[in-house]
Amino acid sequence: MDKLVIEGGAPLAGEIQISGSKNACLPILAASILTEDECVIGNVPELKDVGTMIKILGALGKNARIDSGSVSVKAGKIDNVTASYDLVSTMRASISVLGPLLGKYGRAKVSFPGGCVIGPRPIDLHLKGLRALGADIRIEEGYIIADAPRLKGARVYLGGHFGSSVLATANTLSAAVLAEGETVIEDAACEPEVEDLSNFLVAMGADISGIGTPTLVVRGVDSLRGVSYDVISDRIEAGTYMIAAILTGGRLSLKNAFAGHNLALIDKLSECGGVVEEHAWGLEVYRRGEDIEATHITTLTYPGFPTDLQAQMMSLVALSRGISVITEKIYPERFINISELNRMGADIMLEGSSAIINGVDRLSGTRVMASDLRASAALVLAGLVAEGVTEISRIYHLDRGYEKIEKKLSEVGAKIRRESE
Ligand code: EPZ
Repeated sequence: MDKLVIEGGAPLAGEIQISGSKNACLPILAASILTEDECVIGNVPELKDVGTMIKILGALGKNARIDSGSVSVKAGKIDNVTASYDLVSTMRASISVLGPLLGKYGRAKVSFPGGCVIGPRPIDLHLKGLRALGADIRIEEGYIIADAPRLKGARVYLGGHFGSSVLATANTLSAAVLAEGETVIEDAACEPEVEDLSNFLVAMGADISGIGTPTLVVRGVDSLRGVSYDVISDRIEAGTYMIAAILTGGRLSLKNAFAGHNLALIDKLSECGGVVEEHAWGLEVYRRGEDIEATHITTLTYPGFPTDLQAQMMSLVALSRGISVITEKIYPERFINISELNRMGADIMLEGSSAIINGVDRLSGTRVMASDLRASAALVLAGLVAEGVTEISRIYHLDRGYEKIEKKLSEVGAKIRRESE
């Protein structure tokens, strides 16, 4: 297993190219099941999770290959509708093959994904959406087994206890595009990744209106065609580097970063003393003055503040002047980074699903353990400003979601290297 070793203190300066979006390309790759033609998906990041989705497609009989950021999914039918536990257990997003399999082949058997380190992750909304379209679904021996000779359009409300669901919307939408008649998805997720999937489906010949809004109207078509499509840039990767620029007191030019997808973050960064300038090529980010100011954040569904940037913001306000409160409304248990940040000298207390962060003057490097993907990124950010050396072990989570992270950071002046443990 690898670890990252970071010598803190260097302000970051220079240019970082933002990669394609992990969370947009995974359901898009899954949706390539909906056609027997070849699809070429561009601007795909070379990440472990993308490799897992390619393996799942391969196991279903869809030959896919990644080459220089482009995945070609070869023409042909699938010959197996089972996504096995071995693959699904390594990546929750594997569940996004459920809707496309059911929509195109009328059958699917997908391992039940279970919970994960950021808390329980139910799938009731996925099943609700597909059942509304007429699927017969049962859980047997840890698998979701779904059947529906031909799905029928319906009106379905997909809001849950914590608001809308990104992948439940993706699954219902991907199933509905080939269903008979009209489907209306109410309280659909509005995240840019769902919008990107919708645009991909439309390019394939689907009939969808209300894209990017909480009401998606889908009129089923008989078949979809193969397309070439480039996914959007990764707003969470961009956001992580925006926070890094302000935290280290440096100046970063983030090529391909798009402000429109990160308005809630930009608003909070400005409260913390950051400046984000928009250019045709991307965003330039730096700190206005000497200090980082405290702020209060509540994570919400889009366009609210994203849960996937919450941990990274905690590393920023850990060094602010004053007290910040961060409240998690999407994953109330997503606070695994706190104990590690406190080991580095932060002063953070957990109170229910809120973290109370009393800003400190300095963090000091030590050995810490990475947990989930975004908590791992938060530790990298803390390591960049901590005094001394920070060693982050178990970094395989980072490789699931950040393309070439140590290379990108070294190129802008960070003292960071990967070593085997
Ligand atoms: C997507 O997960 C992302 N993953 C997550 O990114 C992200 O944190 C999450 O959306 C929220 O933005 C991918 O896109 C691959 P949800 P998803 O269903 O779709 C509850 C990262 O770090 N819920 O939108 O699985 C759920 O428990 C990851 O890149 C139900 O109650 O998340 C949560 O409270 C981690 N029932 C809320 O909805 C359901 O059936 C939102 O989750 C489904 C979800």
